[in-house]
Amino acid sequence: MKQLKKSAKLANVLYDVRGPIVDAARQMEEDGQKIIKLNIGNMAPFGFDAPEEIQQDMIRNLPDSAGYSDSKGIFAARKAVMHYTQQQGIEGVTLDDIYLGNGASELIVMATNALLDDGDELLVPMPDYPLWTAAVSLSGGKPVHYLCEEDKGWLPSLADIRAKITPRTRGIVVINPNNPTGVLYPDDLLRGMVAIAREHNLVLLVDEVYDKVLYDDAKHTAMASLSTDVLTITFNSLSKAYRSCGYRAGWMIVSGPKGDATDYIEGLNMLANLKLGSNVPGQWAIQTALGGYQSIKDLVKPGGRLRRQRDLAYELITAIPGVSCVKPEAALYMFPKLDPVMYPIADDREFFMQVLRETRVMLVQGSGFNFPDNQHFRIVFLPHEEDLREAINRIAKFLERYRARFA
Ligand SMILES: Cc1ncc(COP(=O)(O)O)c(C=O)c1O
Repeated sequence: MKQLKKSAKLANVLYDVRGPIVDAARQMEEDGQKIIKLNIGNMAPFGFDAPEEIQQDMIRNLPDSAGYSDSKGIFAARKAVMHYTQQQGIEGVTLDDIYLGNGASELIVMATNALLDDGDELLVPMPDYPLWTAAVSLSGGKPVHYLCEEDKGWLPSLADIRAKITPRTRGIVVINPNNPTGVLYPDDLLRGMVAIAREHNLVLLVDEVYDKVLYDDAKHTAMASLSTDVLTITFNSLSKAYRSCGYRAGWMIVSGPKGDATDYIEGLNMLANLKLGSNVPGQWAIQTALGGYQSIKDLVKPGGRLRRQRDLAYELITAIPGVSCVKPEAALYMFPKLDPVMYPIADDREFFMQVLRETRVMLVQGSGFNFPDNQHFRIVFLPHEEDLREAINRIAKFLERYRARFA
């Protein structure tokens, strides 16, 4: 048979977080080597357990979970999400505006599929969480990357967003708190983005899966609470704040002037019906999670495990000569920079493959987040302090050898 080819729509799809570097690490593990994995925000393998209350409620509801649910999800969970929007100051959300899905991921792909015609453009941050660029491409759209500026604390450049709007632009993707930079956006900036969307009649697609993973008393503002006159689709899930990514329990909220978007909303409903609902046991977890004890606060407060690991990772990584980093205020990641004079790198994918081979530490290079300068990487600070220390010490030694050879 002739070689079976993948579709051209996959040409822009990057998934290095789970891609070739993970295959190489797996091969090394099969050869008996132990790898420290700093490549993915998967919390459970690092001992961050889902709250027991959530597990118990899922178990109790399992006998009622064998049938398909309503396409948009079970009532109790959507009601809990509706109450959550009220706590966040988002106006006018009804049960009908809430869709449950197998994680935020599935809903992100659904929302872009319903929105984009071939060649339509969506503004996506750079660096990005690569699912967004992939979802736009798979939907037949064109991802257009707007710059987040490192010297301004990785905040999106409003000027760059404006400069990249064309007659084909349909919307702006906002990831706040951000993956991979760990940055939280101030209200002024969010208002600036809302103003641009208003002026150009664009949809806001807002990914807030880290909205409760906040350090140093940082406060997150739900963008939809500021964009009451702009159609806004907000995505969230239990994956991070409730350490439950395996339950695949996410939600999407439509807010703003819905009357102007009835056709788009019909498209969302069609796609929700096509997928026949999402994982029902995971849906049962949502009400308990949102209404129960918020144990994430214990992890992020001073002395909490995530906070300690963030501080340690930041301190050790920025102590390496020629490594700079914006300190994350949120999420589970940092996006440090390697000085290009001290560390000339022609191909960052090859460079971090070499890091893996020599140090047995797996990281993802900046180009995996659609950031093309070859000088960045993302570090996940989920391992216990001892493992983080070991991993970053190995990286520091690797970089010392690299400096000696190439600088
Ligand atoms: C910014 C961002 N959005 C969405 C997701 C996917 O989340 P979910 O597990 O809800 O599909 C992730 C996962 O890491 C993420 O970092």
